Amino acid sequence: MRNVGFIGWRGMVGSVLMQRMIEERDFDAIHPVFFTTSQHGQPAPAFTGKQGGTLQDAYDIDALRALDIIITCQGGDYTNEIYPKLRESGWNGYWIDAASALRMKDDAIIILDPVNHQVIQEGLNKGIKAFVGGNCTVSLMLMSLGGLFAHNLVEWISVATYQAASGGGARHMRELLTQMGMLNAAVVKELQDPASAILDIERKVTELTRSGTLPTDNFGVPLAGSLIPWIDKQLENGQSREEWKGQAETNKILATREVIPVDGLCVRIGALRCHSQAFTIKLKQDVPLPEIEQILASHNEWVKVVPNDRDVSMRELTPAAVTGTLSTPVGRLRKLNMGPQYLSAFNVGDQLLWGAAEPLRRMLRVLL
Ligand code: HSE
Repeated sequence: MRNVGFIGWRGMVGSVLMQRMIEERDFDAIHPVFFTTSQHGQPAPAFTGKQGGTLQDAYDIDALRALDIIITCQGGDYTNEIYPKLRESGWNGYWIDAASALRMKDDAIIILDPVNHQVIQEGLNKGIKAFVGGNCTVSLMLMSLGGLFAHNLVEWISVATYQAASGGGARHMRELLTQMGMLNAAVVKELQDPASAILDIERKVTELTRSGTLPTDNFGVPLAGSLIPWIDKQLENGQSREEWKGQAETNKILATREVIPVDGLCVRIGALRCHSQAFTIKLKQDVPLPEIEQILASHNEWVKVVPNDRDVSMRELTPAAVTGTLSTPVGRLRKLNMGPQYLSAFNVGDQLLWGAAEPLRRMLRVLL
């Protein structure tokens, strides 16, 4: 059995990973070793059903070198500090990482095996040892629209995202919910009185939103009852870094020979852990809609084509419906007024599952 080290398993993505690995009985197939950045020597977790021993020091290169495979959800700073040292020490094991630090390196592959299993396999054959989870919006887009790419039908994609608080991290989710609670508390009496004036209620909420008293340490500005049209750093060309990833990572995941343009606007909204995206897709040719639906639906077992029907879309194509599931539904499919090669689509996906944890555990399975 392979010795597999886990770092950052207690954080939000790490916890979802552990949950999925328990559900899929992945721990039965490995010898897990749990690491910590702060509590080494304490008992390792028991949830694997195996004798866990004690937590090892995540900065101990010798302890890490004893592993065949390392899976880290500890974040980019940890990767940047430890990964080069570990390789310099002569370690030749497999590194599976949720953070973006190594993503665009030539000797790393972005993993999303239902979409790029062939790229992964070719990488393994070439001796690649670093496998990195993709940006969540990119992974969720490819899980939903994979069929169009596989059939070489995409000329370009323009996207508008509706990204959940969880993409920022656990603290961001707390902040959003705290903001929501404070706004509600400010008008709770008025809401109970059907005769109260809605514009008075709105004014009170807006005043509180602008008052500077809502907690904004993580998002920087209020998100509840609002949105934030910027995610991640500002780049010189006017894109946000999140927007830059759309094209860069999509093309790297697919190992395209010619770049497929992907660009758009990334926006944070008040959903908890499901990202949604609206796409305008320029197809390389006019393909009839029923054929497009069939191509999309048959690409992988998690994508689901939601009929472009009001009631069904409202029921099935929302963060509320999809959260906590591996389903990556795509709907609102129709040809746009711009012409028969222009397709609209809308997808929803759990940012912590296919957007983060799931590709990691599946990569582990590929290696076993
Ligand atoms: N960058 C994403 C977001 C998270 O902020 O929503 C994960 O890739």
